[in-house]
Amino acid sequence: MSSENGRAALARPQAQPPLQREQARTIFQKGAPGRRAFECPVADVPQPEGEELLPARMRRRRPPALPEVSEPELVRHYVQLSKRNFDLDSGFYPLGSCTMKHNPRLHERVAALPGHARLHPLQDGERAQGALQLMWELQQALAEIAGLPHVCLQPSAGSHGELAGVLLTRAYHEDRGEQRRKVLAPDTAHGTNPATVTMAGLELVKLATDARGGVDVEDLRAKADPDVACLMLTNPNTLGLFEPNIEEIAAIVHGVGATLYYDGANLNAVMGISRPGDMGFDIVHFNLHKSFTQPHGGGGPGSGPIAASERIAPYLPRPLVSCREDGSFALELEGPKSIGRLRGFHGNYGCFVRAYAYIRSLGADGLRDVSEAAVLNANYLLAKLRERGVAEYLPLAYGELCMHEFVLSGAPMKRALKVRTLDLAKRLLDFGFHPPTVYFPLLVEEALMVEPTETETRETLDAFADAIAEILQEAAADEQLAAGAPYSTPVRRLDEVSAAKRPVIRQAL
Ligand SMILES: Cc1ncc(COP(=O)(O)O)c(C=O)c1O
Repeated sequence: MSSENGRAALARPQAQPPLQREQARTIFQKGAPGRRAFECPVADVPQPEGEELLPARMRRRRPPALPEVSEPELVRHYVQLSKRNFDLDSGFYPLGSCTMKHNPRLHERVAALPGHARLHPLQDGERAQGALQLMWELQQALAEIAGLPHVCLQPSAGSHGELAGVLLTRAYHEDRGEQRRKVLAPDTAHGTNPATVTMAGLELVKLATDARGGVDVEDLRAKADPDVACLMLTNPNTLGLFEPNIEEIAAIVHGVGATLYYDGANLNAVMGISRPGDMGFDIVHFNLHKSFTQPHGGGGPGSGPIAASERIAPYLPRPLVSCREDGSFALELEGPKSIGRLRGFHGNYGCFVRAYAYIRSLGADGLRDVSEAAVLNANYLLAKLRERGVAEYLPLAYGELCMHEFVLSGAPMKRALKVRTLDLAKRLLDFGFHPPTVYFPLLVEEALMVEPTETETRETLDAFADAIAEILQEAAADEQLAAGAPYSTPVRRLDEVSAAKRPVIRQAL
């Protein structure tokens, strides 16, 4: 290249400035041979005569190709990566059904106390009495919230709790000599419900939704037969509506000898107000990482304890934590009818500590306040959106009011402004908001599911309503704008289907 050409190239604006190009490199592409963030001390473990610490057959032929970077490079790399993501600590995250609420920092401090954080999962229960007490008290608190007497903390997520619940139902029926094959779930159900049914080897039967957005009771009556093992339901449902016919539904389900399962993902709307056990549910799962605050998302550790009625209790997974007569605590390992273990050790203990701290710091009245504020915030936002004239393009899919979340339909917006719900969601990123859940529940055309949670201020809710109104206004002036969004994020519009189906999670070196 001549020097003139070189100067011209330098003067031309480059597609990606040098610093951003550098930041886009993977950790494996950074650094230099021999560069270190940490020096390992030389091993001082005495080596037995004639023996190697690690036999040669267990060693790699070549050392692993680890990144060789300095500490500042390492720190910058991960801090830059973290800044490229959207997180709850930087902004509003109204992802419907997921309850992305603020996680009080106090709980992090409690969970990080060495007595909790450094507890070994194989520690003898007699020497971990404090941890067992915490688990037992959490079991008691969750039992009270669910209105069911027995709790097992083991499952690691809501979906894992669902699996436990369906396996419990199967065990209950088999113990009575019945091989029931079908599980009923409404067509608004979260995708994990049908997946759980299939995983448990049972057959899913969908129930229709009626004009109010609840279970179509006549359809239930027609499908409830002696081959039904259980009905899985979330209440409020995924349309953000409380099921007013729940007692009648419970009577129909119990009438054919089936059980009623409560998907507790929406418990944030009813804590301390109504209890699934009182509604007639036999088994409940909690998403500790939603209603009881935990950092979650991105596959992070979750916790999905289950509560059960007396008749289901014998089948609960083991171990359970029990309180002996002398006030000490024990891990109950045996249970002749138990469905067994669902995972190693005792569950995600760190999640138990955070949930326990949350429940204890709020108390019963505080939990009720949480749910009331969550419902108030959702209805406030709904009213604000109506006030801003949004309802013409994004009407509420069912009903007039909502519980802790609501589902809008973007169908009129798509017809009138050529803006799909996906485009609106992407454009919200340019306004600094994480988009709500889109295209779920499936029965709502162009669904937009908004869950503001109780931890957001009125100012944030107003700003969000303003942003939606502004996006609709700009769409009326320029049809293409939303279709190209986002414009301000480190990466623009991604091919999300390929990312999910064909993930490239490592780069060839
Ligand atoms: C209604 C509903 N049920 C079940 C689940 C599954 O919970 P988890 O993600 O903890 O497995 C979710 C998760 O978002 C949900 O929203």
